[in-house]
Amino acid sequence: VTRGARPSRLFRQIYAAVVGAVVLFAASVAAVRYFEPRRGPEAAASDELRHVLALHWLLGLLLFLAAAAVAAYPLARRLTGRLDRLRAEVRRFGEGNLDARVSVEGGDEVAELARGFNAAAERVQALVRAQRQLLANVSHELRTPLARLRMSVELLPGDAGSEPRRSMIADLHELDTLIGDLLVASRLESGAPLERVEDVDLLALAAEEAARSGAEVTGASVSVRGDPRLLRVLVRNLLENARVHGRASAVCAEVRADAAGACLRVRDAGPGVPEAERERIFEAFHRVPGRSQASGGSGLGLALVRQIARRHGGEARCLAQDGPGACFEVRLKGAAPPTT
Ligand SMILES: Nc1ncnc2c1ncn2[C@@H]1O[C@H](COP(=O)(O)OP(=O)(O)O)[C@@H](O)[C@H]1O
Ligand SMILES: [Mg+2]
Repeated sequence: VTRGARPSRLFRQIYAAVVGAVVLFAASVAAVRYFEPRRGPEAAASDELRHVLALHWLLGLLLFLAAAAVAAYPLARRLTGRLDRLRAEVRRFGEGNLDARVSVEGGDEVAELARGFNAAAERVQALVRAQRQLLANVSHELRTPLARLRMSVELLPGDAGSEPRRSMIADLHELDTLIGDLLVASRLESGAPLERVEDVDLLALAAEEAARSGAEVTGASVSVRGDPRLLRVLVRNLLENARVHGRASAVCAEVRADAAGACLRVRDAGPGVPEAERERIFEAFHRVPGRSQASGGSGLGLALVRQIARRHGGEARCLAQDGPGACFEVRLKGAAPPTT
């Protein structure tokens, strides 16, 4: 309770509970003392009468206790129930749902806390939104000068295949990939609905992308509802990873329908992913330690793969392998054989 301010309701509730407990305690002590066996001439009073009186006192005390318990219950319930609801709602925000707000009930400190939380959540959300917008804008604005730079490098006089020029073009390509991935990531994180939703033939998509990277594709046609551009980013990232991190081993993509929807698996026979890293590689910019970083990737690839899979009601995982190599699995829901 802030000094000087009128006692709040929460304070009064706690105060009433404490006062009630004290009164109860005092009543019990008084009762015990009153019926203590006395010595001396008064003790001669009729034992029978004292017994009757004691019984009444005991009954009264029990009633008093029951009344106090009944009255205190809804009070405590109300207080803790509201705190429980508040906690559940705050947790939703903590889990990343920045739209989550808590409901404000009553006018005491708990309500004040809820109001304060909502104001803070509002500010956090605005800040995050501004940051994302900034990142998206910067990424977008970087694209044009980057394209100009690339063109200038290609037009430089001298040997077109010279090593410095090749490495410059490779660096520019890496930057371009990073910017592209950042743009997709910021679009996904903004929580905006998918731009285009169509029936996409996952096998055909995998075959197209595999043709670019020289991978083998097997399986059956499965159609999934989703954003074709995002699904392409997903497939391309997995195939690109298998090609680059799989150290030029044979890469195989398999598409099939399963009970829950569609399943895509991309396998290679490279060094694989150690058990302890199988979850962490899905974090943005996390790479298997000790491996060459010169992959040309942005470090966002698998984070995007997982985000895209989840936006399509699915999940992406790195499976445990018996032999060498890595196997990535993406499950997407809502699949049906293509209607052609
Ligand atoms: N097929 C694979 N085989 C072995 N390691 C892989 C494979 N795919 C991904 N990884 C590991 O996961 C890390 C994260 O991948 P990714 O998010 O695509 O970033 P990037 O490819 O830019 O390094 C990679 O750096 C690599 O260490
Ligand atoms: Mg990658």
